[in-house]
Amino acid sequence: MRQAGRYMAEYRALRERVPFLTLCKTPDLAAQVTVEAVERLGVDAAIIFADILLIVEPMGVGLEFSKGDGPVIHRPVRSGADVDKLREDDPRATVPFVFEAVRKARESLPAHIPLIGFSGAPFTVASYMIEGGGSRNYIETKRLMYNDPGAWRALMERLVRIITAYMNGQIAVGAQAVQLFDSWVGCLSPADYRTFILPHMKALFAGIAPGTPVIHFGTDTSGLLELIAEAGGTVIGVDWRIDLDVAWRRIGYDRAVQGNLDPVTLFASQAEIRKQVQRILDMNHGRPGHIFNLGHGILPQTPVGNVIALVEMVHEISSELRMKNQE
Ligand code: CP3
Repeated sequence: MRQAGRYMAEYRALRERVPFLTLCKTPDLAAQVTVEAVERLGVDAAIIFADILLIVEPMGVGLEFSKGDGPVIHRPVRSGADVDKLREDDPRATVPFVFEAVRKARESLPAHIPLIGFSGAPFTVASYMIEGGGSRNYIETKRLMYNDPGAWRALMERLVRIITAYMNGQIAVGAQAVQLFDSWVGCLSPADYRTFILPHMKALFAGIAPGTPVIHFGTDTSGLLELIAEAGGTVIGVDWRIDLDVAWRRIGYDRAVQGNLDPVTLFASQAEIRKQVQRILDMNHGRPGHIFNLGHGILPQTPVGNVIALVEMVHEISSELRMKNQE
């Protein structure tokens, strides 16, 4: 969950020389950052260094990562006419650097470390395109969704086609699993999720190359877990606002789950972090199919030593539990 980032001194040093978008568009550097994070942290999987907004730039809306303000979209999509103007080209032509980075990262990683590709999910990507950046209340996004359902559907369908090709392209060059980030979908009511999101997510999952595990991630989704599981995914992301065992029961034991440590726990003492790890791992009752992770992205001020210690704790406590369960 933002494995490589500003909480690491090596990353900050690189960023002093290279702007974020340039980093994403330089396959050697993106692959290097991906692999370095795995080596530094001792984690069990790598996630390719990229961003969910890379695919929106070639649609023609203009993208900038401005210092301090996060991503900015220069020409937000506010109407059916704006949706119709969006370009839709093959990601292999528009974002070749991502596929090249995946290929290079896969080449450099040890064979036992799987590489995860990713994309934003249609709602979350659309929310940036419509709001023009991050948002608190998603007023413009919901206004378009409610007032012009035809334009909304056209936008979702366009994003589903692009994201499907983008995911399959990453799988083709070496991603062994893919993660769909629907980070902000938790702002919707269950009824709106069912009407405006569910059919498009089903279409997206149906288009992803069979046999590749897909992690379906969201935050603030305690009210939506059943719908998110219904939409699809081999693994369902769970944030910390709900207990893992309660979430898993609702998702169904036919799925794996990923989560669910509060990223802010990493600012506490290591004794407290250990308690929280133990609590979460105890809640999975030794059931296979839990990927330990943070419930959301790691924050830039996070002490890197605590992240390394967290990985060690998860390995230690989960192997203790495995041995106990075998007795
Ligand atoms: O985990 C990894 O190492 C993979 C890299 C990754 C990034 N972004 C790099 C990044 C991943 C998986 C993402 C996904 C992403 N990007 C999401 C979904 C995950 C989530 O957190 O909900 C979203 C919503 C974005 C959009 C985005 N990109 C925002 C809101 C920001 C600004 C955040 C901030 O704190 O400034 C970014 C920039 C970004 N993406 C950074 C990184 C390392 C920081 C950029 C920098 O170096 O200045």
